[in-house]
Amino acid sequence: MMNIHAPGTLLDLEPSRAEFRDAVLSGLSSGTKTIPCKFLYDVVGSRLFDRICDLPEYYPTRTECGLLSLYGDRIAEFAGSRASLVEFGSGSSVKVRLLLLALNQPASYVPIDISREHLMQATTALAQDFPNLSISPVCADYSALEALPSSSIRGSGRRIGFFPGSTIGNFSPQDAGEFLHLVKRLLGPNSLMIVGVDTPKNRSTLEAAYDDAEGVTAAFNLNLLARVNRELDGDFDLTAFRHQAIWNERESRVEMHLISASKQVVHVAGRRFGFTEGETIHTESSYKYAPDCFQTLARNAGYCPRAVWTDEEGQFSIHLLEIAS
Ligand code: TRP
Repeated sequence: MMNIHAPGTLLDLEPSRAEFRDAVLSGLSSGTKTIPCKFLYDVVGSRLFDRICDLPEYYPTRTECGLLSLYGDRIAEFAGSRASLVEFGSGSSVKVRLLLLALNQPASYVPIDISREHLMQATTALAQDFPNLSISPVCADYSALEALPSSSIRGSGRRIGFFPGSTIGNFSPQDAGEFLHLVKRLLGPNSLMIVGVDTPKNRSTLEAAYDDAEGVTAAFNLNLLARVNRELDGDFDLTAFRHQAIWNERESRVEMHLISASKQVVHVAGRRFGFTEGETIHTESSYKYAPDCFQTLARNAGYCPRAVWTDEEGQFSIHLLEIAS
């Protein structure tokens, strides 16, 4: 791990090709086939994801941005001046702009993302618009991060973790709790954590949000197989798998699958995998939490819920949590 880190310099802990291969081979070997969702975000996937965020069916992004604009001043009161922001899964760093504009002289920003090229483009654009902000990008799987680069946090202000987009819902509830514990260690006592959390709602709204009419979400999901073909010498026939999103009410999660249209055999990195007709690869879950359920999860991970804001229809929530001192 580096301990001298000039501002603007990338700390590169991108998962290796071998890690991707091992995860895919083990995921495809298990009884119910799966591939970890973090691998959806290569350059192509990250671009497709930006398009998902602008889709009419995908209500979370615009609802969350509305909440950030509306309650930015309240967040700024909690944050105080010269705060340092750490964002987990920063993508295009669009939402953080709303926070940066609301905060009183934010000192530094550490965007963490698994997609290196996307991260660097976002960082360059942000640096132009916020010249007084010290930006230290980290390319990493944030759930496996051991420490923040020591010189990346500037100023004497509060540390604020930022985890928007209901990305916390892409962990199982147990892993979400473990992730919150990890963040507590990374940020330290007295820090704040801002988490965007999607709420349970009717099936048709949820399923449309994850299976849009234009087929962008389908392309995003199928890109995972294209990536396996590109990087792991795979021979997935992309026309022989279909995207599916289903609301599993009992588990309070939307599940994303890739369904095999027929009985077929696929090769990846020299290994052979059989699929029955209708067999699926589970590529992602998106858990939804009512505000009080999420507060319980946060409390159990050692956080004090300080505020929760929702839109009028209760479609989405932003939680402000404090790490006890
Ligand atoms: N964090 C986003 C969510 O759960 C990720 C996401 C949106 C996603 N649409 C997707 C992941 C489609 C896989 C497929 O809402």
